[in-house]
Amino acid sequence: MKKSSSSLTVTLGDRSYPIHIGRNNTTDLIETLNRIRESKRSCAVVTDSTVELVQSGFLNDVFHDIPRVAIPAGESSKRLAQLEMVLDFMAEHRLNRQSMIFAVGGGVVGDLAGFAAACYMRGIDFIQVPTTLLAMVDSSVGGKTGVNLASGKNLVGAFLQPQAVFVDTTRLDTLEKRELAAGMAEIIKAGLLADRSLFEQLEQSPVTSSKDPGLVGIIWKACAIKAEIVAADERESAASGGRALLNLGHTFGHAIENVTGYNGILHGEGVSIGTVMAADLSAMMGLLSAEAPQRIASVFAAHGLPTRLPSPIPASKLLEAMSRDKKNREGMLRFVLLSGIGQAITHDQVPVDQVMKALANGGAS
Ligand SMILES: NC(=O)c1ccc[n+]([C@@H]2O[C@H](COP(=O)([O-])OP(=O)(O)OC[C@H]3O[C@@H](n4cnc5c(N)ncnc54)[C@H](O)[C@@H]3O)[C@@H](O)[C@H]2O)c1
Repeated sequence: MKKSSSSLTVTLGDRSYPIHIGRNNTTDLIETLNRIRESKRSCAVVTDSTVELVQSGFLNDVFHDIPRVAIPAGESSKRLAQLEMVLDFMAEHRLNRQSMIFAVGGGVVGDLAGFAAACYMRGIDFIQVPTTLLAMVDSSVGGKTGVNLASGKNLVGAFLQPQAVFVDTTRLDTLEKRELAAGMAEIIKAGLLADRSLFEQLEQSPVTSSKDPGLVGIIWKACAIKAEIVAADERESAASGGRALLNLGHTFGHAIENVTGYNGILHGEGVSIGTVMAADLSAMMGLLSAEAPQRIASVFAAHGLPTRLPSPIPASKLLEAMSRDKKNREGMLRFVLLSGIGQAITHDQVPVDQVMKALANGGAS
């Protein structure tokens, strides 16, 4: 991972790519787009209905007459029917193997458009232009693309690294506060698992506005953590640790999302509650000090995030959902636990009674 004045590089050999990070840095994107068009490559933009509305000035100014398709906003668009619609759109506009797809939106658009790029003509290039904080620090980096099936999230997909990622925090000025907080959950998580000073920075100065002068630097740090972990274990195949560490809080969080039917709770909110449960479990297992879970919960709360289940859910249902998680290995529940603030480990042998206790402490019935 190399650092320059306005971009860092995800180092993956000939698939390395830059993440441009700044505020009001649209010129970086325009220059790249101009170069692509000068080389006579055709392009298309995939976005969603909300972004098309609230970011119409940006879309029109930057992408002009480039063909654009908007999927309905929301997680329910991350499915095969929408993928087919986007692929049909690409074929109707005669995109070819040299074409470039621009994914302009949150994680739903990035995952779906990235997967469309991975499938179309057996794979074409794409560029991520994330417009949510969660997409800026998490989903647009690392090359995981895909859609959901009725039986589970992200069950169909492909690894395809983007050619570049363009992060401009002015895009976040139209984002709802609750969505901004959901993105902050992933940044707090990144600090907890790999960068104590990032966690302490957020503890001292919570970020609750897209115009916060510290936000660009914080996004930089979170992207650097993800870039480094992805560069070391791109396909999450390390026997322990590795890319799986990015799932801190996600075993609990995904179960909460799954049992609540992906309604009423945002992914980042599930991560917030789930990370507090994982911290509690870590303390129970003697890995973390007894005071740390409360300290961690306070930082999530200071960013407007829930730290307990808003209403009781049976712990048995959550446990059942966790046992279906595709990240488990050989029938054992797999957890990412904290061995300190800024340090995480994967653990395959967590006693079920301790998991049930962490669920109960987090508000499960
Ligand atoms: N590929 C990965 O590595 C990875 C990692 C984490 C999460 N994800 C996926 O990301 C998805 C969640 O991403 P998300 O939280 O960005 O959700 P999202 O894409 O649904 O965006 C959230 C909402 O914000 C709206 N929005 C987007 N940009 C906006 C803007 N600038 N102003 C106003 N509204 C805007 C969207 O229309 C949507 O309603 C999930 O499907 C999750 O599985 C993928």
